[in-house]
Amino acid sequence: MKNLIVYQGKYGATEQYAQWLAEEFPLPVYRAESCDANELEQTGLLVMGSSVYIGKLQISRWVNKYLNQLYGKQLILFVVSGTPLSEKETLLKYVNSSLPEQITDRCRIFYLPGRLIYNKLSWKDRLLLRIASIFTGTSRENKKMLRGYDDVKKEHLAAISSEISRLLKEQQPSSMTTVIG
Ligand SMILES: Cc1cc2nc3c(=O)[nH]c(=O)nc-3n(C[C@H](O)[C@H](O)[C@H](O)COP(=O)(O)O)c2cc1C
Repeated sequence: MKNLIVYQGKYGATEQYAQWLAEEFPLPVYRAESCDANELEQTGLLVMGSSVYIGKLQISRWVNKYLNQLYGKQLILFVVSGTPLSEKETLLKYVNSSLPEQITDRCRIFYLPGRLIYNKLSWKDRLLLRIASIFTGTSRENKKMLRGYDDVKKEHLAAISSEISRLLKEQQPSSMTTVIG
């Protein structure tokens, strides 16, 4: 049985978290567009990572394409975004509006703080942020989006790392005990 990390992001925050996890365990890591049904065969644990753009998970199209292949696997999802971790309802809404229930029901989900470097964004994404800011007003969070931020830190992976360790241990056959008597 093999185990994989598959992620989809745009500017490197999700990739950075995926790489840190891949180094820690170690596990092969794929960008979603390079991971097809063949790669998913014989996979036990699948760790999926995705960032959020305008309320949608970047990995949603890939998940929907490979729904059948994901069936029966151990699933973990980490979601990288600019929404504060205290805003649980908003974060949950991103997931529920991007992925089918049959996946969200069977997934352990972790939320991680992201990174946005305004000068590195494409003109399209800058425009989208500007348009979004017109609708969402001048809240602190909104200003933060336009200023940019970098909250990507290895230490945020503590909870997801311990869950991966637990699931990998579960995969190991329990050692046989011989009773001599
Ligand atoms: C155009 C644009 C739209 C975004 N939309 C959202 C959003 O709806 N909710 C959110 O929490 N973060 C949003 N973000 C922030 C990203 O999710 C965050 O910067 C994330 O770390 C990006 O990760 P990546 O580099 O792996 O793509 C948006 C960023 C951009 C540039």
